[in-house]
Amino acid sequence: MIVSKLSLVNFKNYKQLSCDFNPRINCLLGNNGEGKTNILDAIYLSAFCKSYFNAIDSHNIRFDEDMFMIQTEFSQNNESDEVLCSVKKGRKKVFKRNKVDYTKLSDHIGRYPVIMITPYDSNLVLGGSDLRRKFLDTIISQVDPGYLNHLVAYNKVLDQRNALLKNTPYGKEINLEVIDIYDGQLIHYGSAIAKSRGEFVRKNLIPRFNDLHKIISEGKESVSLEYISAVDNGNYEMALKSALDKDRSVQYTTVGIHKDDLLFQIEGYPLKKFGSQGQQKSYLIALKLAYYLYIKDQLKLKPIMLLDDIFDKLDRNRVMALLSMVTDETQAGQVFITDTSLDRVPAILDELEKEYTAFEVKGGDLNEA
Ligand SMILES: Nc1ncnc2c1ncn2[C@@H]1O[C@H](COP(=O)(O)OP(=O)(O)OP(=O)(O)O)[C@@H](O)[C@H]1O
Ligand SMILES: [Mg+2]
Repeated sequence: MIVSKLSLVNFKNYKQLSCDFNPRINCLLGNNGEGKTNILDAIYLSAFCKSYFNAIDSHNIRFDEDMFMIQTEFSQNNESDEVLCSVKKGRKKVFKRNKVDYTKLSDHIGRYPVIMITPYDSNLVLGGSDLRRKFLDTIISQVDPGYLNHLVAYNKVLDQRNALLKNTPYGKEINLEVIDIYDGQLIHYGSAIAKSRGEFVRKNLIPRFNDLHKIISEGKESVSLEYISAVDNGNYEMALKSALDKDRSVQYTTVGIHKDDLLFQIEGYPLKKFGSQGQQKSYLIALKLAYYLYIKDQLKLKPIMLLDDIFDKLDRNRVMALLSMVTDETQAGQVFITDTSLDRVPAILDELEKEYTAFEVKGGDLNEA
């Protein structure tokens, strides 16, 4: 799957753009604030119906305009689809595939596999556990629709249980029969979710992550990745029961898969506190590339890779290792790489004897360099 063509009207700092891309490697090069990341975001938005960076669609409309439009041609095996997204202030977002409107945007999401790796991903290490759960949930639900149903059902019961806890003042008797019913449902859906998460992390994520991290860091660092769940050990019912008193006092459910986390460690210590910036970045890139390889193996096609500023903070050896990996055609398909240096990435690609197209990005315009 590749993006063969992209046209933008009033999208962020682009007034008007029409561009054809290389089916393999595209370098988007230019100074800060010129519009490199915005191109990646336009592609991401075409696939996921929302910006990677800005949840409010109207914020992506060019200043002082009232609409934006993104037209993207996705191609595979000589067949092309045209995806059109337009957002007008105060109107519902329009998404079309080959000129036909979608009734449900969820029918579109996942049709064109795209993976973004950006400096914003550092939140995955530095931010709260909700981001790490979301990371897991996004991947697993892309290949297992049943998982998403379980998650939705779980969250619904959790809301109901929390509402009951909130509406029953501590010290007043709570309806234990209803709590039991909720607990039964939480255990049913939660166990399935914990099983999927645990299996996915252990079988699919960790082996790929370990291999990738070894390549990027040249085997110089010992890192680990672990799925942490209070309910992964089969004592779900007991855990809920023993937490009920605490739940009543804080008025929400304190135990369950909504508290799961991923533990990132380097040399046996938390990556967040003890990893250098380059080490955190290497870890994250290995994690996201593990995600890429998993999706590639599951879907049996190579997702489009959007690599935003990934070389910043990495030494030359790591940049080399990374570039040779993401441009290896047995591993990756089409790749978009942004960099502020006009020659760093092209020089390495020349050294690796890769074919690529370099674009200079300047003031919301793109020109082949
Ligand atoms: N809605 C908008 N309308 C007009 N311009 C916008 C809008 N949103 C963002 N911009 C502009 O887009 C530019 C940022 O573009 P982008 O993030 O793509 O830069 P970049 O080339 O990736 O820079 P860096 O190297 O710093 O990452 C900024 O100048 C910003 O003001
Ligand atoms: Mg940028």
